[in-house]
Amino acid sequence: MEKKNLDWGNLGFGYVKTDYRYVSNYTNGAWDAGVVTEDDQITMSECAGVLQYAQTIFEGLKAYTTEDGKIVTFRPDLNADRMMDSAARLEMPIFPKERFLDAIDKVVSANAAWVPPYGSGATLYLRPYMFGINPVIGVKPADDYQFRVFATPVGPYFKGGAKPLTIKVSDFDRAAPNGTGMIKAGLNYAMSLHAIVTAHKEGFDENMYLDPKTRTKVEETGGANFLFVTKDGKVVTPKSGSILPSITRRSLVQVAKDYLGLEAEEREVYFDELKDMAECGLCGTAAVISPVGKVVDHGKEICFPSGMNEMGPITKKLYDTLTGIQMGRIEAPEGWIRVIG
Ligand code: PLP
Ligand code: COI
Repeated sequence: MEKKNLDWGNLGFGYVKTDYRYVSNYTNGAWDAGVVTEDDQITMSECAGVLQYAQTIFEGLKAYTTEDGKIVTFRPDLNADRMMDSAARLEMPIFPKERFLDAIDKVVSANAAWVPPYGSGATLYLRPYMFGINPVIGVKPADDYQFRVFATPVGPYFKGGAKPLTIKVSDFDRAAPNGTGMIKAGLNYAMSLHAIVTAHKEGFDENMYLDPKTRTKVEETGGANFLFVTKDGKVVTPKSGSILPSITRRSLVQVAKDYLGLEAEEREVYFDELKDMAECGLCGTAAVISPVGKVVDHGKEICFPSGMNEMGPITKKLYDTLTGIQMGRIEAPEGWIRVIG
C-alpha cells in the first residue's frame, strides 16, 4: 500500500478529508449493520435533535505506525466504555463495544494510506461520534441516531510541539456541579469556546478551569487533564467528578508507578498548591503530554521550575515511556495495544 503524499512532519491538528468513514443508523430501536463509505456528507432534518438541543457525544483516539511497521490503536476499549457512559448520561442508545472496536478497525484499515509513517511525528486521529438525527421540537431525547467514525492525520495539538505553554486561570466555568463535565459531550466544548477565544486574544495557550463550586481546586483545560510533579518527585493528578476521565491520564499514572517506579496519586489538587509544584503538563489523546511552563492567575504568575524552554525531567520520562509504548518501542501492559494490520 502506497502512503499518501503528505508533508507528514508539518501537519498541525486540523481536519483533512480522508477516503473512508463508517456510518451506522439507529431507527425503530435498533442499530443497522453499518457501512464503510466514501460519502463524507450528512443530510438531516432542519429540526434534528442535535441541531436543536445539542444531543451529541464523541470520542478521540489515535492509530500509530509502530517501529516494526504495524498499525495499532491505543486502548480503544476504554473509548468504547466512555462513549457508553456519555450516551447513558444524554439518554442516547448504547453503541455496543464490539461494534465500536470493529468500526475503528475498519476505518483505520480502509484509510491505511493515511496512517502517518513511523517517526514522522504525526498520527491518524479517529473521531467516533453519535447524534440525534430525527426532528425533535419539545425538549426530549431523539428517537433516531447516527453513529459515525472518521479519520484525519494530525500533528501536535499545540503549535510549537514541546515548547512549554502559558495557561490562564479562567473566570468561566467549564462544567456545573452534578452536570456533564465527566462525559464527552459536544455541549461541554461549546461552553468553552468563548473562554478559549478570550484566552487566545490575551496571548494564553489554554485555560485552567477551577472546580465550579468552590473555585479552589484545579479541574482541567478545555481539552486535556492536568498532571503535576511535586518537588519530591511524586506524580499528582486532579481527582474530580466533573472532569473527563482521561485515558491518557489513567495510563500515565500506571506508567509512573509500574515503569518509572514513581509514586503517583489521583487526588484533589488545590490551586494554592501549584506554587510548590516542580512540573506541570496537560495530558490527553490530542495533547499527548504538553508541558506547562507558567500559570497566570489575574496577572499573578506561577512559574514552574522546569521553565519555559523544555519539558520537566519527569514529564519527559513519562512522555518518552508513553509514546514508546504507543509506537512499539517499549513493551505495553497486557491489552493496551490493538494491532490492526
Ligand atoms: N479532558 C478533556 C476535556 C478532553 O476533551 C480530553 C480529550 O479527550 C481529555 C481530557 C483527555 O482524555 P483522553 O486522554 O482520553 O484523550
Ligand atoms: C482528544 O484529545 O481526543 C480530544 O478530544 C480533545 C479535543 C480538544 C481535540
